[in-house]
Amino acid sequence: MSLKVGIIGLGFMGKVHFDTYAKLGVKVAAIADVDPRKRCGDWSGILGNIGAAGQRQNLRGIRVYEDAAGLLRDSAVDVVDITLPTYLHAPWTIKALRAGYHVICEKPMALSSAEAAAMIRAARSARRHLFIAQCIRFWPAYAAARALVWGGKFGQVLSAVFTRVSPKPTWSWQNWIVNERQSGAAALDLHIHDADFVLHLLGKPRSVQSRASRNKQGGLDHITTFYNYAPGRLVQAEGAWEYHAGFPFSMAFRIALDKATLYFVGADLMLCRATGSPRKMPLQAGDGYYHELKHFVACIRRNRPSGIVPPQSALESVRLVEAEIKSARTGKIVKFR
Ligand SMILES: NC(=O)c1ccc[n+]([C@@H]2O[C@H](COP(=O)([O-])OP(=O)(O)OC[C@H]3O[C@@H](n4cnc5c(N)ncnc54)[C@H](O)[C@@H]3O)[C@@H](O)[C@H]2O)c1
Repeated sequence: MSLKVGIIGLGFMGKVHFDTYAKLGVKVAAIADVDPRKRCGDWSGILGNIGAAGQRQNLRGIRVYEDAAGLLRDSAVDVVDITLPTYLHAPWTIKALRAGYHVICEKPMALSSAEAAAMIRAARSARRHLFIAQCIRFWPAYAAARALVWGGKFGQVLSAVFTRVSPKPTWSWQNWIVNERQSGAAALDLHIHDADFVLHLLGKPRSVQSRASRNKQGGLDHITTFYNYAPGRLVQAEGAWEYHAGFPFSMAFRIALDKATLYFVGADLMLCRATGSPRKMPLQAGDGYYHELKHFVACIRRNRPSGIVPPQSALESVRLVEAEIKSARTGKIVKFR
């Protein structure tokens, strides 16, 4: 089936998705953006914390709409990909589902778990598929670590530490990303990648204990959380974007199992055994965006929901971060189960 995608929001992630569909050979039939420069193909202002800046884009053969509402009247589109600022995820996802489209929506699913629940209800009543782009579940090093942990050969997880650190985000449209009411600040926007992966890999913690630093407006720009599982297991994640210009973005993890240690820094996943040198583990080629969109497209073609990111699991990740924010703000341990 030749699938036709419409992308709403041609910023940092919209461009990443646009380029990824090209690699997958999937037709982007339509785009929508409120910025006239982007609609004319001048994508030179598109920036993010990874990848190169945008360039001029030839949009010949692509229908271009001035806003999301215009694209949602395009009957030649099968799936709408929402790469809008987070505060617009729930309203536009619900409208797209009600208009009869399958929806792929960027992470975090929504600003709150209540909004995320409304998105799931809309998908159910419209009988359309909803996919949430939790790309770290598809990132080759994380997916390989998951296979090793779930495979059980190296025993139980004793401890796991995840970090994600970035310079201050200065690139977003109307600076929405630094407004906590629009993005959830680093706690929701950035750190949800690791909160989501912890939940996906290890299941629900009993409770969370978080500490955070706040920016001048009160938003949490740096959060560290302990996820409380059984006593004797240490699971921690840190997400921060309070660093100044020039500080390099990085994501990393280390997982200690009974019989081996896994660590990911830079591009390589390494496995250390009781003796000998670390072994570089084979990884799938391509990045998490490629594998994630490939999977969602395959699901739509087969008319199946995602077994890797059921929407309810993305909602639970928003709920987990809500618990972490509550813990950081109150200084108390917050139950999660
Ligand atoms: N998966 C990841 O690794 C990752 C990385 C970065 C961002 N994100 C997520 O992607 C989403 C978008 O973030 P971004 O960094 O691309 O933002 P951005 O500010 O770069 O882009 C947002 C775009 O939406 C457009 N827009 C705003 N309102 C619109 C409307 N009503 N109709 C059409 N276009 C509209 C803006 O003009 C802009 O081009 C966020 O939810 C963010 O959390 C995910």
